[in-house]
Amino acid sequence: MKHYIDFHEDVSFTDLDALLNTAADLKAQTKSGTLTPLLAGKSLGMIFSKSSTRTRVSFEVGMYQLGGQPIFLSSDDIQLGRGESIADTAQVLSRMLDGIMIRTFDHRDIEDLARFGTIPVINGLSDDQHPTQALADLLTIREHKGMLKGLKLAYVGDGNNVANSLLQACAKAGMHISVASPKEYTCPDFFVGQAKKDAAVTGSKVVLTESPEEAVSGADVVYTDTWTSMGQESEKAARVKLFAPYQVNAALMSQANKDAIFMHCLPAYRGYEVTADIIDSPRSVVFDEAENRLHAHKAILVHCLLNRK
Ligand code: CP
Ligand code: NVA
Repeated sequence: MKHYIDFHEDVSFTDLDALLNTAADLKAQTKSGTLTPLLAGKSLGMIFSKSSTRTRVSFEVGMYQLGGQPIFLSSDDIQLGRGESIADTAQVLSRMLDGIMIRTFDHRDIEDLARFGTIPVINGLSDDQHPTQALADLLTIREHKGMLKGLKLAYVGDGNNVANSLLQACAKAGMHISVASPKEYTCPDFFVGQAKKDAAVTGSKVVLTESPEEAVSGADVVYTDTWTSMGQESEKAARVKLFAPYQVNAALMSQANKDAIFMHCLPAYRGYEVTADIIDSPRSVVFDEAENRLHAHKAILVHCLLNRK
């Protein structure tokens, strides 16, 4: 893998299997204390233009556990925030680092960083996509269900960055995915089309609906995310009203399969997109999911930084 920016473009079917297996191996090695410093001597710059708890900590600790050096670069502190161009930043950082992870608003900025630089770029979330989350999510589902192919994931709520990457990732893994959102907030056709293309190869189904009940019917995984993503704070009141029928609560969960698990990328807002009795119940795997960011990201780092030609 040259970059990890877009799940559809950058992760082939074979890459996906390899990444999941590497993540599982690295997780087992981490737990048994046998992890080797595969990235000794390598440095990763981590540019953040948006807040983060999980992504920052998991990449930082992941690099440390693999013997490498993470460098946190808040866009408020580096010259990028004062108007230095993406192109110049990319070229300068390429002379010093072995990889860049970036979380920002405009997805094109991430593509430009890759285009002007010469080192691997990892997308730590843009307004459009959240591909590192999707890999950790697949790892978590595989651990809890023992497989991926043929399972059904229902995503209920805002058709946002997390939903777009889940569409791409589920289709690639051969999982059926149903996304239930109000029609103004459904996933863009672009991502639906990409998912349908991969689904035709893997034999999975991609369904977009306005009905949460239809989406969760027969689901093995019920997934939701905040109704107000970073950068949309001024729309919060209107969104809370519009998304109210899309809350994941006990009544909705009862329509999924009996052994369905609940997932959320976090941070979660109890009483809005999910009720406390669901996210804090034994069906919820949200903290396994959060932990798996660490192991999935180590796999991404190894595949991008180590196997580089
Ligand atoms: N899920 C996720 O990306 O969390 P952070 O915003 O805390 O990184
Ligand atoms: N959709 C959320 C995900 C946070 C990890 C956001 O973009 O704020």
